[in-house]
Amino acid sequence: MSIHGIDRGKIVKRISNALLVLSLWPLVLLAQDRALVGTGNGGQLWNELKGEKLQALGLKGDVARGEEAFKICQGCHRRGATGSVSGAYPRLAGQHATVLIEQIADIRSGNRQNPKMEPFAEEHVLTTQEIADIAVYLQALPIPPNLGKGPGTALDRGSELYAKDCATCHGNKGEGNAEKFFPMVAGQHFKYLLREAHFIRDGNRGNANPDMVKVIKAYGNEDIEAVADYISRLAPP
Ligand code: HEC
Ligand code: HEC
Repeated sequence: MSIHGIDRGKIVKRISNALLVLSLWPLVLLAQDRALVGTGNGGQLWNELKGEKLQALGLKGDVARGEEAFKICQGCHRRGATGSVSGAYPRLAGQHATVLIEQIADIRSGNRQNPKMEPFAEEHVLTTQEIADIAVYLQALPIPPNLGKGPGTALDRGSELYAKDCATCHGNKGEGNAEKFFPMVAGQHFKYLLREAHFIRDGNRGNANPDMVKVIKAYGNEDIEAVADYISRLAPP
C-alpha cells in the first residue's frame, strides 16, 4: 500500500529509525542549535548529525562487544587504548563516547583524512553497531598514567593562551563536553596534541570546528607548542 506514493514499509521503517534515536534527541538538539559551516570538503556543515553518525549515536553500545571489536584497533592504539608517547597514535581510553563516534564516522567518510586507519574503519570491517560498542567500551577505560609531556619551557604562555582561547570549549581542566562533541584534551600525549593543533591551523583536519580554526589560525609555532605543552600537563579527571 502506498500513501502519497511512499511505500508503507518505508514509513514503518522511518518510524522505527526515529524511535532508535529518540534517546539522543536532547543531545542532537543541543548540537544543532547553531549550524556551522565546516572547514572540510565543499563547505559542508560542521558535525552535521545525519546518516550513519546519527544512527550510531542512537544505538545502545555494549562494553563486552566493544572490547572484542576493538581487538583490530589495538595494533595501533595499543591494549587499553593507551596510544603512544611518540604521538603516532592517540590515546582513546576515557574519551567521550559521542566524540569517538563523531571522529570514527568522520574518518570513515573521509571528512577527516586518516589513510593509515581507513582500511580498518571500512564498512565491511566495522559495523555501525560496533562503532557504538567500541565507543562505550573506550569511554569506560581508565586513562593511563604514562602520557607524553612537552618540554615545559613556556607553560605560563601556554596557560594564558589556553584560558583565553580554548577553555570555553575544552573546559578549564581539559575535560571537554560530551554533549557538544568537544573532546577531552587532558590526558592526551603531547606529540599527538602538537600534530593535531598544526593540522587544525593549517587546514589538514577536514572536520575541524570552524570556531576553533579561527582562533588557532593566528598562532605561531611557538604558541602552538606552548599551549599543547600546557594541555599535556592537565590532570585527567
Ligand atoms: C593502522 C593503524 C590504526 C588502526 C588499526 C586504527 N587506527 Fe585509529 N587512528 C590511527 C591514527 C594514526 C590516528 C590519528 C590520525 C591523526 O593524526 O589525525 C587515529 C585516530 C583515531 C581516532 C581519533 C582520536 C581523536 O582523539 O580524535 C579514533 C576515535 C580512532 N582512531 C579509533 C580507532 C578504532 C575504533 C579503530 C579500530 C576499528 C582504529 N582506530 C584502528 C591509526 C589507526
Ligand atoms: C569552539 C569550540 C572550540 C574551541 C574554542 C577550541 N576547540 Fe579544540 N576542538 C574542538 C572540537 C569540536 C574538536 C574535535 C574535532 C572537531 O570536530 O573539530 C577539537 C579538537 C581539538 C584537538 C584534537 C583533539 C583530539 O583528540 O584529536 C586539539 C589538539 C584541540 N582541539 C586544541 C585546541 C586548542 C589548543 C584550542 C585553543 C587555542 C582549541 N582547541 C579551541 C572545539 C574547540
